[in-house]
Amino acid sequence: METKEAVQKKNGGALKLDTLKITDSRTGKEFEIPIDHETVKATDLRKIKVKDDDFGMMTYDPAFMNTASCKSRITFIDGDKGILRYRGYPIEQLAEKKSYLEVAYLVLYGELPNKTQYEEWENQVRFHTYLHENVKGLMESFRYDAHPMGIFVSVLAALSTFYPEAKHVLDPEVRRKQVWRLIGKVPTIAAWAYRHSIGLPYVYPENDLTYPENFLSMMFKVAEAKYKPDPVLVKALEVLFILHADHEQNCSANAMRSIGSSQVDPYCASAGAAAALYGPLHGGANEAVLRMLDEIGSMDKVPAFIKDVKDGKGKLMGFGHRVYKNYDPRAKIIKKMADQVFGVTGKNPKLEIALELERIALQDDYFVKRKLYPNVDFYSGLIYQAMKFPVDMFPVLFAIPRMSGWLAQWEEMLMDPEQKIARPRQMYLGSDKRDVN
Ligand code: CMC
Repeated sequence: METKEAVQKKNGGALKLDTLKITDSRTGKEFEIPIDHETVKATDLRKIKVKDDDFGMMTYDPAFMNTASCKSRITFIDGDKGILRYRGYPIEQLAEKKSYLEVAYLVLYGELPNKTQYEEWENQVRFHTYLHENVKGLMESFRYDAHPMGIFVSVLAALSTFYPEAKHVLDPEVRRKQVWRLIGKVPTIAAWAYRHSIGLPYVYPENDLTYPENFLSMMFKVAEAKYKPDPVLVKALEVLFILHADHEQNCSANAMRSIGSSQVDPYCASAGAAAALYGPLHGGANEAVLRMLDEIGSMDKVPAFIKDVKDGKGKLMGFGHRVYKNYDPRAKIIKKMADQVFGVTGKNPKLEIALELERIALQDDYFVKRKLYPNVDFYSGLIYQAMKFPVDMFPVLFAIPRMSGWLAQWEEMLMDPEQKIARPRQMYLGSDKRDVN
């Protein structure tokens, strides 16, 4: 691939890009469309017209199967090779060597923080973990059996009313503060949504704990003076948070960008992103995997279940991905980590069913032909369950770290001079003008 810069260098400063030649068979006219990074601009096709007053040629791409909606420098994925990098760093190295807050800083600001930057960042996040007391009242008004993801989405949107200055999204200082608030507050919202569902008093954040320790304390502390989580479980949560921090232009990131492009505040935009994440085809899949394993029940039922999937009677949840056509690199890391977690918690009895599903699926023509491999959600739920998180909390556990990705995507979109309010076109196929009788 020749980049703009490489072409310019080769031509002694003159920019002559590769082009795509198109002949319109309706008119016989030829058009030359510039190619940049193996991409043509959809708006360049508008000059292809039959008559001068035609609207011009559009592209049709439901579900964005082959459309780049932005230029981004945050996350790189090579789905065929199973590669995932944040800002150039391989996910495997980040998961092994860094904390979630360091990775969140990297995702948001482009570089890993030095010591001073990290201390300032961690302090700011820690300083913003408390929720306004009125938020407690709002959470208490939900029914006892409200899904925590519904509460999470609602509280995010409600925060917009607590911080009205957040609407000044073009002010960098305002944006910076909302980033601290959102990264700081999401574990508190998540844990309180859980405490609400089991009728336990809410636990307040504690400043001497790390980000994942604090979350575990707010989730599980009961009467003890200090909640002391097992370090293996803290590390596992840290890694799971890192793996979920960003994943470029997925459904919820696209929602964040699209909603944010109207210049609404980031609380409303991230409530929309979290709502997108809630769906079973996206972040709700880890919950769906556990429900599927429950439904299968035992190892001997696995072949019949696989047959049903192949007959179109449902999906093998936690398998398949829009971009990974190889093993999801996040699933590899999680599978390895599962052994360490189960060493502390005891084995999740559903693990055997999951391993058998994977073994059969990876040999089966149906899955092989379609390049369906386990994705991040296939094993994460088993770990969460072993750590005593209820199944309802799984999508919320995905949303906590994804907040850093959403905010990075949002900021990049706002700062991109080529971006405008998101407003797709349509192919109108409805009735022509007709009169009401
Ligand atoms: N089980 C059985 N068949 C499947 C599955 C599956 N999990 N996923 C895809 N297929 C089949 C699908 O029926 C289609 O078959 P055919 O060509 O005969 O019509 C083919 O594979 C291509 O699938 P697709 O639905 O066109 O692929 P997509 O890119 O639109 O969907 C997906 C991607 C993730 C939504 C889909 O694979 C899926 O529904 N998987 C299960 C849900 C899941 O695990 N989601 C979590 C994704 S990872 C977390 C995240 O990033 O959000």
